Amino acid sequence: MPRAIFWPCPALADADLSRRTTMNVGGRAQWLLEPAYPCELVAAWHAARELGFETRVLGGGANLIVADGPLPGVVVTTDRMSRVFRPRVPGAGDLLDEDAELDELQPILMERLPLERTEDPRLVAWAGCGLPGLVGVTRMLGWTGFEGLVGVPGQLGGGIAMNAGGRWGETWDAVESVRVLAPDGEVRHLARAQCAPRYRDGALGGAIVLGAVLRFRVAECAEVKERMQTFLREKNVAQPVTERSSGCIFKNPDRELSGGRSAGRLIEDCGAKGRRRGDAEVSEKHANFVVNRGRARASDVLGLIEEVRALVAEKTGIRLETEVKIWR
Ligand code: EPU
Repeated sequence: MPRAIFWPCPALADADLSRRTTMNVGGRAQWLLEPAYPCELVAAWHAARELGFETRVLGGGANLIVADGPLPGVVVTTDRMSRVFRPRVPGAGDLLDEDAELDELQPILMERLPLERTEDPRLVAWAGCGLPGLVGVTRMLGWTGFEGLVGVPGQLGGGIAMNAGGRWGETWDAVESVRVLAPDGEVRHLARAQCAPRYRDGALGGAIVLGAVLRFRVAECAEVKERMQTFLREKNVAQPVTERSSGCIFKNPDRELSGGRSAGRLIEDCGAKGRRRGDAEVSEKHANFVVNRGRARASDVLGLIEEVRALVAEKTGIRLETEVKIWR
């Protein structure tokens, strides 16, 4: 039995993580903490640190593979931190300035917005907001800026931390500022100009995203919707979107090094499409995806990833770097 600890938020001992990642593999966390507010997350993180636990933050689990077996320490999930707000009075008494406490904001139901869609096209969103839901809000309001994230799973916090996105756009395209819990335990509000996001990297130096102010541009609803439909259609053709996966496994290598070939292309050229370990399979549709075809274990998925990496290195001399995060 784990010893009793009075956490500053709801907590589960020995919690199954496999259903909390999109690959559906992995073991159990010693502790799973479920803060509902940014201030609770901060308190939970401090409590875990004071008790000497290794602490990790779990968002939508869309770009994460958790190893089998017990995961010691604390996992803080942002699942319950999923509120999204609009500023009530544009300009005056702005709720979004850097001194405003994220927790003090009152949720405003989207269908009862006191603002016209053409006014102040910004959202304040907490880290646990699902990206698909946020994309849906911008579609409904006819705001442009997040179309490139259509079909991207996961939550805003992870999206910002890893600069999730693809060919049509990235999360940071719409970030005006971000509220983080820095590794030194301080909460900081960073303006876009203070940050330097890169390809698949929010470059936040290990800080935990609590929430962000997102800025869009007012456009025509039909136009935004159409762009999203086009991107989604293209994505459906190219990627195994309906299967259980962690998205792209490897980063695309330097174009000069690979002669312009993407990771998926390199893996396909090496003949690895369809290769299997247990129920883990290199997708036939897109070779940079490993899909869980049934009851794959994390060891199958991780073993297959190393097999593919070794094969590509042997045949091309290129060592692919994983994009997906791995917790062991
Ligand atoms: N290709 C192949 N075989 C394959 C897969 C791809 O030959 O099995 C070729 C394609 O035909 C294309 C090229 O490789 O000519 C690039 O493929 P694709 O357009 O699918 O893009 P990608 O570079 O593989 C990137 C992101 C995706 C994102 C898409 C679309 C990376 C590592 N991947 O994929 O992101 O969805 O663009 O915008 O940057 C993710 O991050 O999890 C992810 C899936």
